[in-house]
Amino acid sequence: MKKDLISIKDLTSQEIEELFNLAVKLKRDRTKFNKVLSGKTLALIFQKPSNRTRVSFEVGMYQLGGNSVYLSPSEINLGVRETIKDAAKTISRYVDGIVLRTFEHKNCLDMAHAAGVPVINGLSDFSHPCQALADLFTIGEKFSRLSHAGQKVARRLKGLTLAYVGDGNNVCNSLLYAAAKTGMNIVVATPAGYAPDSEVVKQSKEIAKETLSQITITQDPSSAVNGAQVVYTDVWASMGQEEEINKRKIIFKDFQINAKLLTAAAPGVLVMHCLPAHRGEEITDEVMDSKNSIVFEQAENRMHVQKAILIKLLSKN
Ligand code: CP
Ligand code: NVA
Repeated sequence: MKKDLISIKDLTSQEIEELFNLAVKLKRDRTKFNKVLSGKTLALIFQKPSNRTRVSFEVGMYQLGGNSVYLSPSEINLGVRETIKDAAKTISRYVDGIVLRTFEHKNCLDMAHAAGVPVINGLSDFSHPCQALADLFTIGEKFSRLSHAGQKVARRLKGLTLAYVGDGNNVCNSLLYAAAKTGMNIVVATPAGYAPDSEVVKQSKEIAKETLSQITITQDPSSAVNGAQVVYTDVWASMGQEEEINKRKIIFKDFQINAKLLTAAAPGVLVMHCLPAHRGEEITDEVMDSKNSIVFEQAENRMHVQKAILIKLLSKN
């Protein structure tokens, strides 16, 4: 049966560990498995702009011996030119996998349901699973190198604390699931009214009972970063919310990642951002360009982790 990647909630902790172990090998040698997806094609159906997701999937597919076809918002025009169901059924006759970047999360579910090939969520308004997987891979890799050489990347996450400061958005929702699945602690600080999805918080806390991850939701950025080994932020207004930015700049002003906020974090704190960043808003130039910032390693790891995802989902069809 085909397998999709719509939410991290659907992955087992074991599957995440396997993906990370494969990504380690793929990162070490970009030519590894360079024929494994030979003859396969990936469709990238994007209803929103992208740099990292599009390029990392396209190049990743190429490095694995396959091809990709990018379909911009105006081409497929999902749900307008034809229904998602019809588009999914048609495109499944040509390609071996689909990455969908869309607004409503239900579009991902509908696409996965109708498509005869694996569907990967390349970001919806609700979640961004490929991002959060690459993020936790990056953290595990960093800490394995720093102190526990040889330890499996996924296992290194247990007991670490990530503080997410900003909007409780799609990236935040996926980080909650990812932390819960891997046993990493997560503290989320958002202004009132901008907390992550309440169902995600509830489900993550349920999953965390097994993995012993601690999940905390607060409105106090200083207490959130206190002692954290990793501090993470994202834009205050996501794609589709651009017209709210002026209002949000006022509401989020105390949630900026700056040098002062980071003084309470653990020594050598790692700073992360999924990018694109709005420098001077959610993060200062000084922090973004500091030695603590690992934002571009994080961006690079999107490709290594997604190559592992592509191998797992597409090589069996
Ligand atoms: N982080 C991320 O998904 O970036 P893009 O929107 O550029 O793909
Ligand atoms: N929360 C951001 C993430 C971009 C990768 C957005 O949805 O625009």
